[in-house]
Amino acid sequence: MFLNNCWYIAAWSRDIERALVARTMLAENLVLYRQQDGAVVALEDACPHRKLPLSKGRLLGDIIECGYHGLQFDCSGNCVLAPTQSRIPPQASVRTYPTAEKYGFVWIWMGDPEHADESKIFEIPNFENPAWGKTDGGVLEIDCHYLWVTDNLLDPSHVAWVHQSSFGAPGTDDTPLRIKTLDDGVVVSRWISDQALPPYYAPLVKFEGNCDRLQHYEVRVPSVCINRSIFTPAGTGGQESELNDKAYVMVSYNFMTPIDENTTTYYWLQHYNNDPHDTVIAKQLNDGAVIAFNEDREILEAVHMGMQNTTTPKLDLALDAGSLRYRKILDGVIAKEQVS
Ligand code: FES
Ligand SMILES: [Fe+2]
Repeated sequence: MFLNNCWYIAAWSRDIERALVARTMLAENLVLYRQQDGAVVALEDACPHRKLPLSKGRLLGDIIECGYHGLQFDCSGNCVLAPTQSRIPPQASVRTYPTAEKYGFVWIWMGDPEHADESKIFEIPNFENPAWGKTDGGVLEIDCHYLWVTDNLLDPSHVAWVHQSSFGAPGTDDTPLRIKTLDDGVVVSRWISDQALPPYYAPLVKFEGNCDRLQHYEVRVPSVCINRSIFTPAGTGGQESELNDKAYVMVSYNFMTPIDENTTTYYWLQHYNNDPHDTVIAKQLNDGAVIAFNEDREILEAVHMGMQNTTTPKLDLALDAGSLRYRKILDGVIAKEQVS
């Protein structure tokens, strides 16, 4: 069961051009293309005649033509031509989905179009701030339920075992966690004091020696995951409001779009308060993220398979408190949507 009345990312904007692109989101098949005026169209990807995916057809101007018998549909999903007969069947139409573009992504509202409101797209602070750098980001398909990924992104401890060559460092295995409940999500966080820098961040941080480190893992409905890291010289951390100018801040934004119950598309970008014009650093960060997220992918695909076995024992640990709380919040929002 998914939450429908919210925005999900369907693609990077750079990947949607004047061509038909098939996407499955929340177990629904969509076809996307860019109109001649630049706007992105999203339609149900099934011709109402014999259900050939419209993505297998042709784009004629802004019209999409079915590849089987040529029914043509406009951007509103209405059939405008039935070339094999004189009359257009009055019921010939396909569903359209509201779209928006923000932060370099195409977003799609999967629920009632009446409620689609662009102001509900998640807000990224400092996105236009020229002093902040960002990576080109990327996309990854993971063969697991999307909530295994949100669990993972509310779990700062896993880095000690899964990401030893990147995010892991002393203190990530045993420093106590704090959990905070938000209106629409959960934050799991901790300050780790006076430890060596992890390998991924060591070349980027602008000070020598040990660090105090914030691990802030936040997940918001439906599946927006914010991973905020702060590194500051040892002895100067502990309070985000009192950071000195040597503090290195990196926020990894991770957006999960369920393809179905067994597969997830993972979109991400990194945003940081340094080196805004350094393309070498941006590439290095992105390449490192790809390696680390593939480490997660390997684990989460195996977890997805493993958790389907109900004959072996299963338990939760204290580290799961944040993700269990998040699942409860999301369940409540989905249940509310179902009855409304
Ligand atoms: S299947 Fe599309 S026109 Fe026949
Ligand atoms: Fe991870």
